[in-house]
Amino acid sequence: MSRSDLAEVRVALVGVGNCSSALVQGLRYYQADFGQEKSSAVKRTLAGIKIAQIRIVCAFDVDAGKVGRELASAIFVPPNCATRITPMDPYQVIVECGVALDADVLLPKKLASRAKHVSVRQIREVLKGSRAEVLVNLLPSGSVRSTAAYVEAAIEERLAIVNAIPVAVANDTSVLRRAIKAGVPVIGDDIKSQFGATVLHKTLMELFQVRGCSLEHTIQLDWGGDADFENLVCFGQYKKGKAASKTHALRKATPAHSHDRIHITAVDHIAFLGNRKEAFFRLQGTIFGEQEMRLEMTLTVQDAFNSAGVLVDAIRVAKWAKDRRRGGLIREAAAVFCKWHPYQCNEFQAFKSLQRLLKTR
Ligand SMILES: NC(=O)c1ccc[n+]([C@@H]2O[C@H](COP(=O)([O-])OP(=O)(O)OC[C@H]3O[C@@H](n4cnc5c(N)ncnc54)[C@H](O)[C@@H]3O)[C@@H](O)[C@H]2O)c1
Repeated sequence: MSRSDLAEVRVALVGVGNCSSALVQGLRYYQADFGQEKSSAVKRTLAGIKIAQIRIVCAFDVDAGKVGRELASAIFVPPNCATRITPMDPYQVIVECGVALDADVLLPKKLASRAKHVSVRQIREVLKGSRAEVLVNLLPSGSVRSTAAYVEAAIEERLAIVNAIPVAVANDTSVLRRAIKAGVPVIGDDIKSQFGATVLHKTLMELFQVRGCSLEHTIQLDWGGDADFENLVCFGQYKKGKAASKTHALRKATPAHSHDRIHITAVDHIAFLGNRKEAFFRLQGTIFGEQEMRLEMTLTVQDAFNSAGVLVDAIRVAKWAKDRRRGGLIREAAAVFCKWHPYQCNEFQAFKSLQRLLKTR
C-alpha cells in the first residue's frame, strides 16, 4: 500500500521536546512499511485508522535552536535526549515560532526572538495553512497562558485537541463550552503513559480492593533526568500540577478513608539519567487475619516513548470524534488516555467503554 492510498490524520505539534521526538520517530518507524506495522505491541488499527495514516503537518516551538529547522532534525536538538530509534529523512515541516507567555516554567536557554510577540492570529494562520486537524499540546507543565493561546487558536480553526499536559483544558468548563459549540473534541488532561507509574499504581490499588486487602499507606517516588523532569522539580511544577493530577487518578481508585495515606512526590532531577524515568512504589497493608503485607518495586522506562505509545491512540480517537462533529470532552477517551478528568474508572472498564464508543457511528 502506498502513502497516497491512505487518508491522512493531519497533526499540529505544540512543543518539539522529547515527547514530540518519540512521536515523530515512532511514526516514521511504524510507517516504514506503510500499514505493515512491525510490532504487535502497537495497536495496528484504532478507530479504523492505522498509525501509518498519522502525519505531522506543522509544529511550534520557542527554542531558537529549533525554530526554523526541519522537524526531522529539530527533534534531536539538545536538551532533547530521547533515544534515536530510526534514521530520519526530512519530514518537510519547518518548526514555526510559537508564543511564550509563561514565566515560571523551564524555558529554552535561548528563546527565539519573536516568541513573546507571536499572536493567536498568527498561530491560526499556520494551523489553517497546514490544514491540521488535531492539535497535540506538549508544552512544559505549568504553561497555562501559552496553552490558552494555542487552545484558542485550535478552537477557532476547529481542530480537535489532545492536551497531554497537567494544565486545565478538559478541566476548564469555559473551554469545554466553547468546544461543544464549535464541535471541537477535547481529550485531556495530562496524558497517561503506555505503561507508566500512574497506570501501574492505580491498577495495583484497585487489586488491593478487589482482593479484600486493606491499604495502610502507599508511596510513589519519581525521579528522572530530562528537561520535563527539570521543569517539574526545579521550577516547582511537580507540586503545582503533576502531583495533584497523579494523586487525583489514584484517589478515584480508592475509598475516601485512605486518601490521606497516598503520598506521591518527585525525588530529584538527575541529569545523567537523560530520558530515563524511574519510579519507586510501596503499597503496605494487611490481608486476612490482619497479617502484614508489603509490595515494593521500581519501574524504569524511557519516558518520551512511553507517552508516544498513548499519543498515537489519542490522536486517532480525536480524529474519529472530529469527523463525527462530537464537541467537548470525549470522556471515554479521557478515561483511557489521561490522568486528570472527572471520569475515572478502572483501566479495563475504561478500555471497554472506549471500544463501545468507537463502534457507534
Ligand atoms: N511520559 C511522558 O513523557 C509524559 C507523560 C504525561 C505528560 N507529559 C507532559 O508532556 C509535556 C512535554 O514533555 P516533554 O518531555 O516533551 O518536555 P520537553 O521539556 O522535552 O519539551 C517541551 C518543548 O516545548 C517547548 N516550549 C516551551 N514553551 C513553549 C511555548 N510557549 N510554545 C512552544 N513551545 C514551547 C520547549 O522548547 C521544548 O522543546 C510535559 O508537560 C510533560 O509533563 C509527559
